[in-house]
Amino acid sequence: MMLGAVQFGVLAACIVLFVPMGMAGWHLSRNKMLFFSGALFITLAVGVHLTPYFPSFSAFIPSSSSLPSSPTVVASSVNRDSCISSLHEIEFHNQDSRNNDSTSEKKSWKWVDSNKGVVDCEFQKLSKSDASDLLNGSWVVVAGDSQARLMVVSLLELLMGLDEIERVRGDLFKRHSDYHTTVDVIGMKLDFIWAPYVSNLTDLMVEFREKRYHPDVFVIGSGLWDMLHVNNATDYGVSVSRLKDSLMPLLPVTPEFEFEDRPVVVRSPLMFWLGMPTLINSILNTEEKRAKMTDAMWYAYDEQIYKSKLVRNFGGPLFLLDIHYLSSGCGRTCTVDGMHYDGIVYEAAVHIMLNALLIESQQRLS
Ligand SMILES: *[C@@H]1O[C@H](CO)[C@@H](O)[C@H](O)[C@H]1NC(C)=O
Ligand SMILES: *[C@@H]1O[C@H](CO)[C@@H](O)[C@H](O)[C@H]1NC(C)=O
Ligand SMILES: *[C@@H]1O[C@H](CO)[C@@H](O)[C@H](O)[C@H]1NC(C)=O
Ligand SMILES: *[C@@H]1O[C@H](CO)[C@@H](O)[C@H](O)[C@H]1NC(C)=O
Repeated sequence: MMLGAVQFGVLAACIVLFVPMGMAGWHLSRNKMLFFSGALFITLAVGVHLTPYFPSFSAFIPSSSSLPSSPTVVASSVNRDSCISSLHEIEFHNQDSRNNDSTSEKKSWKWVDSNKGVVDCEFQKLSKSDASDLLNGSWVVVAGDSQARLMVVSLLELLMGLDEIERVRGDLFKRHSDYHTTVDVIGMKLDFIWAPYVSNLTDLMVEFREKRYHPDVFVIGSGLWDMLHVNNATDYGVSVSRLKDSLMPLLPVTPEFEFEDRPVVVRSPLMFWLGMPTLINSILNTEEKRAKMTDAMWYAYDEQIYKSKLVRNFGGPLFLLDIHYLSSGCGRTCTVDGMHYDGIVYEAAVHIMLNALLIESQQRLS
């Protein structure tokens, strides 16, 4: 299929404008150059395909002889996508130890090692030092409701250790407030932004766009608060669509478009959507929650995320951290109030996120 000249023009403008802008903000330590070259390659690949049909485009790209060999890159990108899709293959274990009078329960999680994708992709739980290395010098923003706050706790636990996190826990859990910190040893800046409604996330995106300055890694997600306080899935859907529109200018180029009947995938910046957890209605801790946060309402809210094409599995820009799937895998014993889960669930999500970052940067820790 041939694209019209106008679309070429728009595309070229997008690439020229947004790719450098998108890349300017990325500085994930060791991976810096890899991120850079990955994004650059995509630009070049798109450029090369377009060049014959759009002569002036060639002004922006180096001669094709300097390109890396395409076949390997195509192969590795296929591989990357299959690895991304296996990332949630995680199982939880409860080991009851009843050898004593006291019953102590120890929970653990791991990737399902009978899964071929998991084996091939060599996912790994990152150690403190690997994670520090990966995030050294970067700026991470986590924005959303209480689920997002729990995600911050797990990320900081990994980077700072349990003792340190106890020290900051008080600040972090001040109700309904933002939290800013730097992990000094690795110069990582982390902002938690209390954004209970999707419209708060949209405002944040607009702010980043206006300042032309955005984090290296975004983790955003709001839903539960809205469900409790607004309880209207249609309205939620409208907000989610607006959020999606506000994200688009932050992306280097349209995530996917067709060229010669072949989809061309362009990697977006490192943005994650934190899905809503499984709700266990019978143990929600207030009457109001039990009345409003029903399974039917959960599905009505969740449907909006797919309908609005916000997440990648459904053609959108954000990588889904599927807390629903993880929390239901951990199960009833992992939550006291039916909506906030034990740290282990968010810990798994943190490792999924870090592995996604590694995959995106085409890098393995040795
Ligand atoms: C038995 O209980 C003690 C503390 O009450 C604990 O330190 C020990 O690890 C327990 N042993 C087993 C096998 O669970
Ligand atoms: C972080 O990166 C800087 C240089 O970019 C390096 O000097 C420092 O040792 C790194 N820190 C860690 C903990 O990796
Ligand atoms: C979030 O959005 C709501 C509704 O638009 C607004 O009332 C509230 O002040 C915002 N909260 C924050 C923290 O920005
Ligand atoms: C949700 O909000 C819309 C208006 O935005 C309204 O038309 C609709 O009736 C509401 N739905 C419910 C179930 O209240």
